[in-house]
Amino acid sequence: MRIPRAMTLLRTSVMALTWLVFARKTLSAPLDPTLERIWRDWKSTHVKKYLEGEDAFRRAVWEENLQMIEQHNREASVGKHTYWLGMNQFGDLTNEEFNQRLNGFRPHLAGQDGSNVTWLQESATMTVPKQVDWRTKGYVTPVKDQGNCGSCWAFSATGALEGLHFKRTGKLVSLSEQNLIDCSDKQRNYGCEGGNASRAFGYVLANGGINSERSYPYKGKKGECRYNPAQVAAKCTSIENVPKGNERALEQAVAKFGPVSVALDSRSKQFQFYKSGIFYSPWGGDVLNHAMLVVGYITSRKGGKSKDYWILKNSWSQNWGEKGYMRLAKGSNQCGVANGACYPTL
Ligand SMILES: *[C@@H]1O[C@H](CO)[C@@H](O)[C@H](O)[C@H]1NC(C)=O
Ligand SMILES: *[C@@H]1O[C@H](CO)[C@@H](O)[C@H](O)[C@H]1NC(C)=O
Repeated sequence: MRIPRAMTLLRTSVMALTWLVFARKTLSAPLDPTLERIWRDWKSTHVKKYLEGEDAFRRAVWEENLQMIEQHNREASVGKHTYWLGMNQFGDLTNEEFNQRLNGFRPHLAGQDGSNVTWLQESATMTVPKQVDWRTKGYVTPVKDQGNCGSCWAFSATGALEGLHFKRTGKLVSLSEQNLIDCSDKQRNYGCEGGNASRAFGYVLANGGINSERSYPYKGKKGECRYNPAQVAAKCTSIENVPKGNERALEQAVAKFGPVSVALDSRSKQFQFYKSGIFYSPWGGDVLNHAMLVVGYITSRKGGKSKDYWILKNSWSQNWGEKGYMRLAKGSNQCGVANGACYPTL
């Protein structure tokens, strides 16, 4: 669903208000002076610049996040969690701000899906390998960074298209998210305000192609459409949806076709600061707000326990997670990973 501009404005002023209230509250709250050095280093690492008077507020948010991360990791070290958290570029954002800024997945809209959209049928007989990792086969470009723009959907889509293109041609070409951001309004994508990978494929299909990253580089904000039909870098002719919630079908799709676009619930603080290990969502995946790319999975048992996971590529730079990737527990539809999966075909 689209967020009307008025809502965005309202949200911004609500945010400013919370900021004021919070800033007032924290002005009197003493900051931990022993963290001064770490705070400065963190700001310079992530090139943070604040408005006059904002620094104390950001510091307070950062300290709170740091405490939460340390607490989680103390628990992880005694076996209470299967994954670790780490400070990253999102350290000065409240969880609310994080969700407003980065997670640009806009789910189902009724109506037109086009005639070239089909539903994958789960096969009862297909056997799949225990382990798939398309990164090792050359299907996957390096981890990218969406920056301060809700364009995850475009990165998820280019990831799947890059895999498809490699499969067809043996050439790995980085494809243009900016092309999708600027040009797929008609498919009801909203640039930095969100979109969905399926509708991005719909654009590539209707448009007859997409440009490369090199010819149409990323800006991180919406601009005029500058698609150049003389420089088609990849194409698709149909879109395949994975039946909702069906991880077996998703596994078959990944094994058979390559990287698959997924939508998931990434709203938690744990997701915001995920660092390593096998992630479990603190809640069920009912709200899909982020798009990523499944590039493989592992099916294994250790000591009678399932250690299955999906390998997910994100678009939050290599600072987040395992060099930009997440291992997500597989078998209980964590974060709703199988609730909105699709891929392009040619
Ligand atoms: C739809 O799919 C068919 C068969 O795969 C293909 O020939 C046709 O070009 C596709 N339509 C578009 C608009 O790409
Ligand atoms: C993405 O958009 C398409 C077309 O509007 C829709 O059919 C699909 O359900 C959406 N995906 C998700 C996961 O909501």
